[in-house]
Amino acid sequence: MLRIERLDLRIHDRERFDCGEVSLNHYLRRLAGQHLRDGIATTQVLVDEGAPSRILGFYTLAAAQVALDVLQPADRRRLPRYPVPAARLARLAVVHAEHGHGLGAALLQDAVKRCLALRADLGVLVLVVDALSEGPAAFYRLYGFRNTSTDALTLYLPLGKG
Ligand SMILES: CC(C)(COP(=O)(O)OP(=O)(O)OC[C@H]1O[C@@H](n2cnc3c(N)ncnc32)[C@H](O)[C@@H]1OP(=O)(O)O)[C@@H](O)C(=O)NCCC(=O)NCCS
Repeated sequence: MLRIERLDLRIHDRERFDCGEVSLNHYLRRLAGQHLRDGIATTQVLVDEGAPSRILGFYTLAAAQVALDVLQPADRRRLPRYPVPAARLARLAVVHAEHGHGLGAALLQDAVKRCLALRADLGVLVLVVDALSEGPAAFYRLYGFRNTSTDALTLYLPLGKG
């Protein structure tokens, strides 16, 4: 059975993780623990209960804000003229051998759920992501992410009003 839990350097083997993207491997191996400890970003990992040290995928969230005019006109309506409170999906990756098996979608769904839960305690209106390339951008669009007005690879997901 798969589960998603907070990165724990004592349990999870970061060295063996390879998603095929050097910068994301490097982040998990060298920076994720430090950022978690320092309160910069939090990383959740996907593991199988049968092999709890093997990281199958991970995502990282951080607090963010975006300028109002980054959002599409329909999403800006009735918002105060301040920067928009946001969460950033700073990293998302699945181990290369498991690509295409739905794990990326499961991680993304968990990240969105976590952001929605946050809204009870902290204003957060959108989840933003800087996609590495057009491939991942297409993946995010499948799940409702919209283009920003500023950058073709920066996307956002409205987290709903009310
Ligand atoms: C992008 C990534 C996280 C997707 O994870 P995954 O587990 O392979 O994706 P899933 O199996 O959950 O795919 C879900 C859907 O997204 C689609 N999809 C996945 N990767 C895609 C891509 N690169 N381009 C277009 N669509 C893609 C799948 O076809 C699937 O669609 P379907 O439900 O209609 O069949 C994974 O490929 C990865 O780790 N890539 C390397 C790191 C990376 O680029 N991360 C993104 C950083 S911005």
